[in-house]
Amino acid sequence: MTKVTLKDGVNWVGVVDWNIRDFHGYITYRGSTYNAYLIQDQKTALVDTVKAPFANELVEHIKEHTPLEKIDYIIVNHVEMDHSSSLPIIAKLAPQAKIYSTARGKEELIKHFGAEFERVEIVKSGDKIELGKKTLTFLEAPMLHWPDSMFTYIIEDKILLPNDAFGQHLASSARFDDEVDQNVLMEEAVTYYANILMPFTPLIVKKIQEVVAMKLPIDIIAPSHGIIWRKDPMKIVNAYLDWCTGKTIKNKAVVVFDTMWGSTDKMARAIEEGIASQGVEVKLLKLRCTDNTDIVTEIVDAKAVVVGSPTLNNGMFPSLGSFLTYEGGLKPKGKAWYFFGSYGWGGGAVRNMIKMSKDFGLEAQEPGLELKWVPTAEELKKCFEWGQMIGQKIKA
Ligand code: FEO
Repeated sequence: MTKVTLKDGVNWVGVVDWNIRDFHGYITYRGSTYNAYLIQDQKTALVDTVKAPFANELVEHIKEHTPLEKIDYIIVNHVEMDHSSSLPIIAKLAPQAKIYSTARGKEELIKHFGAEFERVEIVKSGDKIELGKKTLTFLEAPMLHWPDSMFTYIIEDKILLPNDAFGQHLASSARFDDEVDQNVLMEEAVTYYANILMPFTPLIVKKIQEVVAMKLPIDIIAPSHGIIWRKDPMKIVNAYLDWCTGKTIKNKAVVVFDTMWGSTDKMARAIEEGIASQGVEVKLLKLRCTDNTDIVTEIVDAKAVVVGSPTLNNGMFPSLGSFLTYEGGLKPKGKAWYFFGSYGWGGGAVRNMIKMSKDFGLEAQEPGLELKWVPTAEELKKCFEWGQMIGQKIKA
C-alpha cells in the first residue's frame, strides 16, 4: 500500500470498505472507510482499529511501518464494532501494548470482548501520554457517538482524531479533502450528520464550543470514517455548526407519503403544488421509492415536513410507521410537521401519525387533512389550498 502520511510519524493504517451499502440501516451508496492511525516516535501508538472482517488488512498496513510487537499503546476512541471489533486480534498480536479508553469504554470493551479487557487503563479529558517528542492528549466526548466516545489530539502535530465526529461514509482511493470532489464530500458529510449524529446536536455544539475555548490549534481533522480534512479543517467544523444551529434551514418543505390505490398520491401532488405556488421549494418523496437515509438528509434544511398515509386497518400504512420511528429517533429540530391522508370506510392514519409524532416530541401541527375514498376535483382544490397555507406559514 502507498503510505498515507498526515505528518511525519503519523500515518493512516485504516481500510476502505468499498462494498458496504447498509450501515445499521443507513444506506451507504458510496461505501465507507474505517480509519486507524499509527503514531510513531520513541514510543508507538495505534489509535482505533477497524471492523473485524478487515483485521488482516489492518495488520498488513501496520506492518508496513512497524512490527505489531513494537506497538506500545492502543487508544480506543470508540467501542462501536466498526472501530473496535479487530481489537481482540490486535491485542493478541501486540500483547505488550497498553490499552486506553474512557471509563465507559472500558466497561463496554469488557462486555463485548470479555474479562481480558479488565487490563484497559482509563483516561479522562486532559490526560496525556508522552510518545517522545509527540504527546497524545484526550477529550471525552460522550454521545459523539456513544457514551464511551472520546477525541485524541496530537499536541505537537496539531492533529485532532475525533473518531465518528466529522466523518463521512465515503469509500475513495483518495484520503484527503483536497483530493476529492467537494460536492460529493459535503453531500456525504451532511448525510452522515443527519443519519448518525443529529440526535446529539446540542452536545455537538457544546463540544465544538469547548474545543474553541481551549484554543487548540488544529492543522488536520482525521475522523474514523471517510476523508481526512487537511486543506480546510474548519470547513467541516463550520458546516456542523450551521447544521446544528439551523443556519442552513430555508423556505423548503419535504412532502413524504405512501399510497395504496393512488388517493394519497393525488393529495400529495396537489399539496406539493399548493406549497410550491407560494415560492417555497418542495421535495416530493414517495416512501418505498426513497430510503429513510435520503429523506432525513433532505429534512436537515427544511422548515416543514408534510406526511401522508392511506388508512390501513384503522391505522397508518406500515412504511409510515418505519419512517416516523426513524425520524422520531433522530429528532430533527425546528421543523413543523403536518399530516394528511385518505381512507375508505373509517379513518385512523392521520390520527395515528399525529399521536406517534407527538410521542416522539416532533412538532405536530393540527388539524391534519383527511379525505374519504378518491379525492374529487373540489377536494383536490382543498389539498392545494392546504398546501398554500403551509407555504405561507413557511414564508412567515
Ligand atoms: Fe463509526 Fe459509532 O461508529
